[in-house]
Amino acid sequence: MGVRIDPWDYRLVQEYDKLITVFGIQPIDNVEHYELLNHHFFKRRIVFGHRDLDKWLEALRKGERVAVLTGFMPSGTPHLGTAMVFEELKFFQSIGAHVKVVIADAEAYAVRREDRETTIKWGLEFIKHAIAWGVDPERAEFYFQTAMRDSYYRLIQMFSRKVTLAEMEAIYGDLSPAKVMSALTQVADILHLQLDEFGGYRYVLVPVGVDQDPHIRLARDVADRFEGELGLKRPSSTYHKLLRGLDGNKMSKSRPDFAIFLDDDEDVVKKKIAMALTGGRATAEEQRRLGGEPWKCMVYELYTYFLLSDEELKEITESCVKGGILCGECKRLAYSKLVEKLREHKKRYKEASEKINLDSIVKTPSF
Ligand code: TRP
Ligand code: SF4
Repeated sequence: MGVRIDPWDYRLVQEYDKLITVFGIQPIDNVEHYELLNHHFFKRRIVFGHRDLDKWLEALRKGERVAVLTGFMPSGTPHLGTAMVFEELKFFQSIGAHVKVVIADAEAYAVRREDRETTIKWGLEFIKHAIAWGVDPERAEFYFQTAMRDSYYRLIQMFSRKVTLAEMEAIYGDLSPAKVMSALTQVADILHLQLDEFGGYRYVLVPVGVDQDPHIRLARDVADRFEGELGLKRPSSTYHKLLRGLDGNKMSKSRPDFAIFLDDDEDVVKKKIAMALTGGRATAEEQRRLGGEPWKCMVYELYTYFLLSDEELKEITESCVKGGILCGECKRLAYSKLVEKLREHKKRYKEASEKINLDSIVKTPSF
């Protein structure tokens, strides 16, 4: 049996190189028009892979209408792992893409067996957090899957005709009707923007964590099969690495002590950072002598993903590996940078909550 990614039971992937060879994900290094990707996620290879990003960038460069679509299954306040997607959306808006965000409430209901009302409530919260993070609501659309028009649902029915169970099993492993429905729904999310009725965006890029790649592969196959009937084109995608929890395992809301949530209080953040896994040595003497190992360090991961500029990062890396800085001091720096960032976010979240009329931004599902 080959390697498989299960988007619904996703543990921690660390062997990103293997994904590139096994699944044919393209490394981000050799993208044409790379200069357009002027963001540290790309420069630092946090976004490490893609499919057909070149085509999308070429369309952008030529001034064609390009869109970005991604989605969330919300439950609880978003954590920093989710904020990576907000950050990407903000970046893609800054280079001129139209952005559309799906709240996957049908999937949360069917696969996660979440309660409808709670999902809707958290979905609305997610939208506020995305805006607070910097996603411009004027140039973005948000939707709940279950509040979509019938033509979106018609797509799901049509897609079911040209997909076989064997093929889905090869992609996803064990299936259930709920998973089949959710996968085809996600394919409709990914492809519907191409229809004239939904904006007619022919170049759609889907930025996601690499755990979502199975859905991208299915969507690309489906697009090929509906090229004649619906004029669909293959979507493009980018894949980011998954921010790890503070203990080095997956960052997840089910392990709240090891995740940083966007509304965490400062003393909570302090405690979490204090117990974070580092690449420090057993004793201070050893660390001064041998230096730290930043590549094993979760504090360093936060630095790279969110907290430091290129120069600052270079400086910290050097002092860490040379044993010039010890983990205690380093954690204090990380704490102050992180708290500053979260403070800003909370301020903007409060403003967004006061100023923004969500009803004008998103249609809330009615049942
Ligand atoms: N399955 C995604 C998740 O687990 C949510 C999602 C639904 C999505 N539709 C999408 C993501 C379309 C990207 C594109 O969070
Ligand atoms: Fe991590 Fe900083 Fe310790 Fe280096 S000094 S291992 S970067 S906490």
